[in-house]
Amino acid sequence: MGGESPPFPDFFQLVTLDETGSTNDDATAAARGGAPEGTLIWARRQTKGHGRRGRSWVSPGGNLHLSIVLRPDVAPMRAGEIAFVAALAATDACAGLAPAADVRCKWPNDILVAGRKVGGLLIESSIAENRVEWLVVGIGLNLAIHPDNVEFPATHLALHAGRAVAVEEGLALLAEAFAARYRLWRDHGFAPVRMAWLDRAAGLGGLIRVRLENSELTGTFDGIAADGTLALTLPDGTPRRVTAGDVFLLDSVSSGASPG
Ligand code: BTN
Repeated sequence: MGGESPPFPDFFQLVTLDETGSTNDDATAAARGGAPEGTLIWARRQTKGHGRRGRSWVSPGGNLHLSIVLRPDVAPMRAGEIAFVAALAATDACAGLAPAADVRCKWPNDILVAGRKVGGLLIESSIAENRVEWLVVGIGLNLAIHPDNVEFPATHLALHAGRAVAVEEGLALLAEAFAARYRLWRDHGFAPVRMAWLDRAAGLGGLIRVRLENSELTGTFDGIAADGTLALTLPDGTPRRVTAGDVFLLDSVSSGASPG
């Protein structure tokens, strides 16, 4: 850890690995084995990093890859709120590292800098007796390197910070931001998290294309509902809600990735 980093938040028990398959797989196994809330598994490299919909996540040394075990005692329908908590923490960390950059959240799980994907979230969960038993929040941030030829155009943070960004610095900032945003959610619920997320949202008020399991929708991105679902208005004026899908930003009302 660099000398100027703030102390690592007490909330976490940090497990550091040089290399692993996937920190999400490790954290999931740890959660199943009873690991406490705040267990944070950080690996310098992943050999089998993965993202949403089974996509692989390029995970070289120099980028940040970590997964956090949470055990909030909430109803299953609230589990999805954690994606917004994590997205805010990730944007806080990116904004701290590259203060002049345009850092945005793209629904549901992407972090953008200057309209390109710099990070992603992968949330896994277990429900027991109609409560959330555990959640694993996986966060990947491209600090030093980004992949080419990916569906969503990517970037890495050092390009926007104008300097090299040490992974330890990224880890410290992200951990601090996550502890603060999670505390906000636990103490005050989803409403302030939702408002803060909307402040950072990419593409709000603009045209989006949403790829669903077997179809697509195009419409105006109106924001997120009180339950975190995506709200859009179709060209004929019909309001629609979407619970899962991939979003492509079609114009530049606010910055965001365009289809790859
Ligand atoms: C996505 O954009 O599809 C989500 C990417 C999530 C990547 C992170 S890196 C740390 C953790 N371990 C994984 O295997 N995946 C997540």
